[in-house]
Amino acid sequence: MKGRILVIDDDTAILQACRSILEDGGYDVEVASDGRAGLERLRLKLFDLALVDLKMPGMSGIEVLQEATAIHPELVTIIFTAYGTIESAVEATKMGAFNYITKPFTSKQLEAAVEKGLEHSRLLCDNVRLRQELKECCAVHQIVGQSPALQMMLATITKVAPSSTNVLIMGESGTGKELVARALHTNSSRCDGPFIAVDCAALPSNLLESELFGHEKGAFTGADQAKRGLLELAHEGTLFLDEIGELSPELQAKLLRTLQERSFRRLGGERLVTVDIRILSSTNRDLPNEAQQGRFRQDLLYRLNVVTLIPPPLRERKGDVALLAEHFLREFSLATNRTVARLTPDAMQLLEEYHWPGNVREFRNVIERAVVLCDNDTVRARDLPDYLRKQAQLGQEIQDAIGYKAAREQWLESQGRSYLTLLLRRNHGNISAMAREAQISRKSVYEMLRRFEIDPRQFQSPAPPQSE
Ligand SMILES: Nc1ncnc2c1ncn2[C@@H]1O[C@H](COP(=O)(O)OP(=O)(O)OP(=O)(O)O)[C@@H](O)[C@H]1O
Ligand SMILES: [Mg+2]
Repeated sequence: MKGRILVIDDDTAILQACRSILEDGGYDVEVASDGRAGLERLRLKLFDLALVDLKMPGMSGIEVLQEATAIHPELVTIIFTAYGTIESAVEATKMGAFNYITKPFTSKQLEAAVEKGLEHSRLLCDNVRLRQELKECCAVHQIVGQSPALQMMLATITKVAPSSTNVLIMGESGTGKELVARALHTNSSRCDGPFIAVDCAALPSNLLESELFGHEKGAFTGADQAKRGLLELAHEGTLFLDEIGELSPELQAKLLRTLQERSFRRLGGERLVTVDIRILSSTNRDLPNEAQQGRFRQDLLYRLNVVTLIPPPLRERKGDVALLAEHFLREFSLATNRTVARLTPDAMQLLEEYHWPGNVREFRNVIERAVVLCDNDTVRARDLPDYLRKQAQLGQEIQDAIGYKAAREQWLESQGRSYLTLLLRRNHGNISAMAREAQISRKSVYEMLRRFEIDPRQFQSPAPPQSE
């Protein structure tokens, strides 16, 4: 069958003519003598093309057109119009009709218009299908992993993605927070709208403010043109606020107001701009704890954190190491035009034993490097960076029973300083939080600080005021 066509016209002579011409041309044809009957057919059956008369008693062609696209957005329509009503036919094409034919028409003209319409219909279908396929392969499927922790997160993503709920993604650096945010967007009804990511840590507060809210001409020196902000650009889409924990107290207050009122003013502007956006945010801090400590607004946190997603760190899902390795080997083989497909058992063991403080991002870099370094189609242990091996050696020495105290001393000597700095950075110099994370006493934290002569205050940020 060359295509399914519905003809809607109150003139039975036209209906009969269309049926015989198009059926002879090998099309599947149905006819309806008024708008209501036509829409009824559309609800029951999938058509590729509808030919609709503009002027009919009862429902007009325009009305039919509007309802038809509501029922079946990909339906291609062609309007019949008599001489003298071409203007309304043009109007109809503006409203979404694909084309129009003026009456009277020859069978050749009809066939040509129908063939063009069907061609367009096939293109549309291809687009829809491609978009669907793209969505499927880009979204949840790109998040690689079979471990229970990751599968649980994927299930939550699938559940919350379609709604417009604000989601806070909380996790260590490199765990895939941005990947999760993109998956939420592509699996939502906003997927055809923009996805706009802003790194709140990348810009000083005043620049970030004008990036987000935009400005009018002359709002500040250098603002020689009005500019739309990212909030406006994200309209009907998703705004991803990366590193939200770094937002200054002033911007926290302003963002809160925007979320409450769904509108804001550009810098130096009077007019209220109303936006429809979904906010996804991410942080590598323990934001609820930050809020309790008065470093982040509790009321803003409530708005952002309707649902929390926590991508698990790689060391807690060692079961995914092999899958991830395979995934990135494929990626970098493609990128470098090589076919590196395997790892030796030694190499795999190193990857599995390392604790991956930089998570999947670090893992991906290591595989990229290995693909470049390796000789043939197999990654060997020697293609992996030395520091993976050092940790393994250290583990071995400790296992060689030099005694708990000596082992601890050796570890402190070699790794203590960098571990302590990591703890300080992650917990912003908060001793209790550090003790909790490392699962040691506060006293031990103080001992380490003294030993390495580090002042925790340099990692602390000043507390924002609690209200405006
Ligand atoms: N589960 C996963 N499967 C496949 N690739 C992943 C996964 N998690 C992360 N990645 C990849 O690791 C890299 C880092 O991910 P992403 O940028 O999303 O992490 P992040 O948590 O936002 O990191 P940061 O805190 O450094 O901003 C990206 O290249 C991403 O594609
Ligand atoms: Mg990120």
